[in-house]
Amino acid sequence: MACLRCGVIGLGRLGFKHAQNLAGRIENARLAAVSDPFEGARNNFSGRFSGVDVFADHRDLLARKDIDAVVIASATNTHGSIIMDALKAGKPVFCEKPVTLDMDEGARIRKTLAEVKGYLMIGFMRRFDDAYLMGKKQVDSGRLGEPVYVRCVSRDPGAPPIEFAKASGGLVLDMCVHDIDLARWFIGSEVSRLSAEGAVLMWPELGKIGDIDHVDIEFRFKNGRLAHLEGSRNARYGYDIRTEVICTGGSVFIGDLRQTACLVLNGEGSLTDIIPEFRTRFDKAYLTEMEAFVNDVLNEREPSVTLEDGIAAVELCFAVNDALKQRKVIEL
Ligand SMILES: NC(=O)c1ccc[n+]([C@@H]2O[C@H](COP(=O)([O-])OP(=O)(O)OC[C@H]3O[C@@H](n4cnc5c(N)ncnc54)[C@H](O)[C@@H]3O)[C@@H](O)[C@H]2O)c1
Repeated sequence: MACLRCGVIGLGRLGFKHAQNLAGRIENARLAAVSDPFEGARNNFSGRFSGVDVFADHRDLLARKDIDAVVIASATNTHGSIIMDALKAGKPVFCEKPVTLDMDEGARIRKTLAEVKGYLMIGFMRRFDDAYLMGKKQVDSGRLGEPVYVRCVSRDPGAPPIEFAKASGGLVLDMCVHDIDLARWFIGSEVSRLSAEGAVLMWPELGKIGDIDHVDIEFRFKNGRLAHLEGSRNARYGYDIRTEVICTGGSVFIGDLRQTACLVLNGEGSLTDIIPEFRTRFDKAYLTEMEAFVNDVLNEREPSVTLEDGIAAVELCFAVNDALKQRKVIEL
């Protein structure tokens, strides 16, 4: 069987996970090299993996002729330039969300991708999660009628590390970008009007860098359908990701708080555990999306999540941030 030799750029929380998946969980992939400018991240990696080349500079990794494809999971504000470097080096690319923090850069990525006739997949892993896939299949089957309303809740258990937050683009671009993608995916139309309300409710340090920790977003789509998206860093109980799709003949409810299918009951009440964080909840989805990337590249298929999906979601994030700043409804 053909085997894809991959490089991973960025060895933080998620890059490490992608590296683990490529190194040991995907039959037709090998992890050949990694890069991160942060010595601590490189040492952490080298302490746990052998036989993988480790670079400080991603350009040294890209110069390697024996690397067939790359996964970018570096800090968000580095995505655009690294994507263009990788495409120009002739490598098929998987890049984490959000694809860029700058719409002009988005246009340059689009131009580069067209010029090199390259491959670029964006990491909206919820589209590869079993529960979201089952919900999407039900909605698309038509058995539930037409989808008319999507409600998403995305709550983190706390504020991210402040250095991460500074490079992330803020709550909307970092977190709600997933829900914005899902709303477009389920409704199958583009947003025509939106409004938003946001605040710092719990983490003043986020306010100091111009970020917020709670947002409520309202979308009206061109086909008249609606969505409500909540993004929050304030779920002190755990990681809480749920989506409801209301259809004319039924509905799908996706997601659960519970990590383990065990309910403990005693005279005082009942108890379950709660999913602690994103890598636990989406462990299988990260693997499935990486398998999709590897198989697309090996079989010369188009990506299932495209640059245009990534750019559409980022454009909407900017419009939401405008609505928050200007305190007004935005017509698109
Ligand atoms: N799809 C998801 O569910 C999901 C979840 C978490 C993070 N992410 C995305 O993944 C990316 C990384 O997030 P994280 O949580 O791992 O962040 P992190 O802060 O833990 O790690 C980022 C790493 O990137 C490294 N880095 C910075 N510049 C670099 C460069 N030029 N080349 C190589 N490495 C570089 C940093 O040194 C750091 O080790 C972010 O864009 C984030 O939005 C996606």
